[in-house]
Amino acid sequence: MDNKRLPPGELGLPVIGETLSFVFDRQYIKSKYDKYGAIFKTRLLGRPAVFLVGPEANEFVLSSGMEYFSWRSGWPETFKVLLGESLFLQDGEEHKRNRRLMMPALHGAALPRYVSTMEEITQKYLKIWEEKGEFVWFEEMKKLTFEIATVLLLGANPGAEVDRLSGLFTTLTNGLFSLLPVRLPVTGFGRAIAARNELLKHLERVVKERQENPTNDVLSLLIEARDEEGNKLSLEELTAQAMLLLFAGHETTTSMLTWLCLELGRYPEVLERARKEQKQLELMGDLSLEQLGQMSYLDQILLEIERMHPPVGGGFRGVVKPFEFNGFYVPAGWLALYSIKMTHYLPDVYPNPQNFDPDRFSLERQEHKKRPMSLVGFGGGSRICIGFAFAKLEMKIVAAYLLRNYAWEILPNQSLEVVEIPTRRPKDGLRVKFEKL
Ligand code: HEM
Repeated sequence: MDNKRLPPGELGLPVIGETLSFVFDRQYIKSKYDKYGAIFKTRLLGRPAVFLVGPEANEFVLSSGMEYFSWRSGWPETFKVLLGESLFLQDGEEHKRNRRLMMPALHGAALPRYVSTMEEITQKYLKIWEEKGEFVWFEEMKKLTFEIATVLLLGANPGAEVDRLSGLFTTLTNGLFSLLPVRLPVTGFGRAIAARNELLKHLERVVKERQENPTNDVLSLLIEARDEEGNKLSLEELTAQAMLLLFAGHETTTSMLTWLCLELGRYPEVLERARKEQKQLELMGDLSLEQLGQMSYLDQILLEIERMHPPVGGGFRGVVKPFEFNGFYVPAGWLALYSIKMTHYLPDVYPNPQNFDPDRFSLERQEHKKRPMSLVGFGGGSRICIGFAFAKLEMKIVAAYLLRNYAWEILPNQSLEVVEIPTRRPKDGLRVKFEKL
């Protein structure tokens, strides 16, 4: 142990270390990476911490070195309090069992059942937007994705109830990123806990209703799910997992859809090419699952949005066993972070990373396939985002309808500067003029 070298880097101030630079300085990880390379140390949230950056580091954290890391002891306390006993914070056998129980509701044969609802809700919002003519897209996308999430995941009826839940989630999300999580009614964190309690109360009621009268939403599939020994998820487990799915299932998608509309508004030649692809598919008839599998240019655009605008910038882990990476030793008890966004902007992985260029994902170029784990907007390995296919399906449906039937213009006099917290978005939310073609 004596001759083991700790990673380079500065620990910063006592206790808080470099937490403030990490949260407020958008160049923090880049400047450290430029100075030290793929692994460097600091202190964050009161703990010694190590950053692991780039495809090889991602491969280590997300796949070959998974045994050294824990999710539960990595994510900040606010996540544990607000998201409770859910998949996102579980480890080991408990996580494996629950993931197996939850997978079928979000993959394979379950997905085609969700298409018509996704389409109906999308069409409803397109009409609303057409009537409005001008609006802030981030806010509107949030309504759209939250309605899809509550209807498909919980079987909710759109209306006042959905609006109330959406407001509670906004308060909860703001609390996740409280730097000083003080539990008082007047603090952001205190308000987030009150919102969590309201949400749990609502969800527990819905779970009980579904247990008595199953329908065909995701929650009913979770209620019916059994493991090999015939065990099922308990009321508390179902409530916590439903809460997580609702949370994870709409904030992220809202962000990516907003950036999609922004970049298409900025790059008319990309928009026209994507529109042409849709118009050709439209000749085959109305939107269908078969058509959704044939949108190769839209797929490229969505990969480029994932690369440039990943809604989740990175992931926290707790180090549970000491390990070595690139010749540096990291002790147990440290915090570890892998970086999604920084990987996506490394020029040796993606040349000219600041350029919006969907063709970097064309069959000829495939820049993300040259090194494994170069594109990790949904994480990677066996704990890759469980809602990956659900989110992709939803985003493609929304994009296909937009491209087939609508035009939009980014309005002047607004800030499109990137804001990362609580969800990556353009500062003023993207104000647009919107009309039917
Ligand atoms: C654009 C949309 C989405 C993005 C960018 C996204 C991103 C991510 C990322 C990066 C992770 C891994 C975090 C880590 O490694 O620390 C993750 C995990 C997860 N996501 Fe998503 N997500 C999206 C949509 C969804 C949806 C629609 C759902 C549910 C319906 C969902 C549920 C989850 C869950 C439950 C996990 C934890 C999985 C596990 O630990 O086994 N996500 N997501």
